[in-house]
Amino acid sequence: MQKILIKNIRSLVQTRTEPPHWVAGKDMAVLPEIHDAWLAIEDGKIADFGTMDEWPGISDWSGLEIIDAEDGLVLPAWCDSHTHLVFAGSREGEFVDRIRGLSYEDIAARGGGILNSARKLRNASEDELFASASKRLDEIIRQGTGAVEIKSGYGLSLESELKMLRVIKRLRERGPIPVKATLLAAHAFPEEFKNNREGYIRLITDELIPAVAAEKLADFCDVFCERNYFTPEETIHILTVGLKHGLRPKVHANQLSASGGVQAGTQVSAISVDHLEYVGDAEIAALKNSTTMPTLLPGAAFFLGLPWPPARQMIDAGLPVSVASDYNPGSNPTGNMHLLLSMLCITHKLTPEEAINAATINAAYAMDLSATHGSITPGKQANIIITKPISGIAYLPYAFGSDLISKVLIDGKIVRHD
Ligand code: NIG
Ligand code: FE
Repeated sequence: MQKILIKNIRSLVQTRTEPPHWVAGKDMAVLPEIHDAWLAIEDGKIADFGTMDEWPGISDWSGLEIIDAEDGLVLPAWCDSHTHLVFAGSREGEFVDRIRGLSYEDIAARGGGILNSARKLRNASEDELFASASKRLDEIIRQGTGAVEIKSGYGLSLESELKMLRVIKRLRERGPIPVKATLLAAHAFPEEFKNNREGYIRLITDELIPAVAAEKLADFCDVFCERNYFTPEETIHILTVGLKHGLRPKVHANQLSASGGVQAGTQVSAISVDHLEYVGDAEIAALKNSTTMPTLLPGAAFFLGLPWPPARQMIDAGLPVSVASDYNPGSNPTGNMHLLLSMLCITHKLTPEEAINAATINAAYAMDLSATHGSITPGKQANIIITKPISGIAYLPYAFGSDLISKVLIDGKIVRHD
């Protein structure tokens, strides 16, 4: 049996013996910590923890590997519940066009944006996509991500959406972190269906969803509910068909306008609604008493120069919030979750405790991994971050440009050692 003891932990963060499924409202400000702690890992899972003055009651010390945290913090690895990290080619040309004054929607209207990525992806082989996405996956693991969700949505045809999902399946098999897959065929209307919306929606509901379900290629189904993309009615229709085939709904909601995406999501009990730049009282009311996790993607809002979502107002209204990267070539070309913690604190006025809850326990809920990830809990997978020696949790979002990670463990195995 593999046994690891991590000692000299300045603070063991997010320790919960009986974790709630999420933390909401005032509870988001509570982040349990144990100072001067140790953490025991057995067979890749968290076994026990305590303070350094009460040494663990390990009966058999043979084969025990000891890791000295050297006064660093130990946290559960980040859960990133929203990425598009399988893609072909970058879009810095559009980035420059936006600097010169065009908007994300202007660029999309002239055939750029998602359709630009779709053209590139259709010409890329499965092996090429797997190789480039593997590099991105390795990069985010080094940055402390211990679970990730990845969407299709740059295929926009039966063949190319399936190609993307097969790449995601290979990434899951490759590991080492859990990979959840989402069918996002309803990301945009492809050129060939520009004048036949119903035709494309029928392709999704009658052909793609059944094919994806038969091959067990996805866990979730997602729709970009937005003006010039999919209406709330179309969103509900597609997600309802997905649900019948076992795919849990998610929605890209209210990113560019008050699109009705949040209400569409709560109506079909989406596991999460993501973006939320254009959210007001009606959306907050729809989210209250729902099982839907409001997920903020501050990297995309920053990169596109969108207004910040009313995160403070949402938490003050008693809602949970989670955070994800949205790693994609068009609206956020990075999966660095540490940077997002800083954005949540600096621009959205979340406290460090709230931001860390958003990126761990609540983010695990948003990707249906609450049972195994998102907190330091006996029995959960030992996917953890050991930081360099730092003063405490507030230093993490404070030092927004620094790499503060010393080690990353996935299933108890060291995958980054500095
Ligand atoms: O989540 N909003 C829609 N989809 C992506 C962006 C995709 C793209 O521009 O390639 C997002 O921001
Ligand atoms: Fe997205």
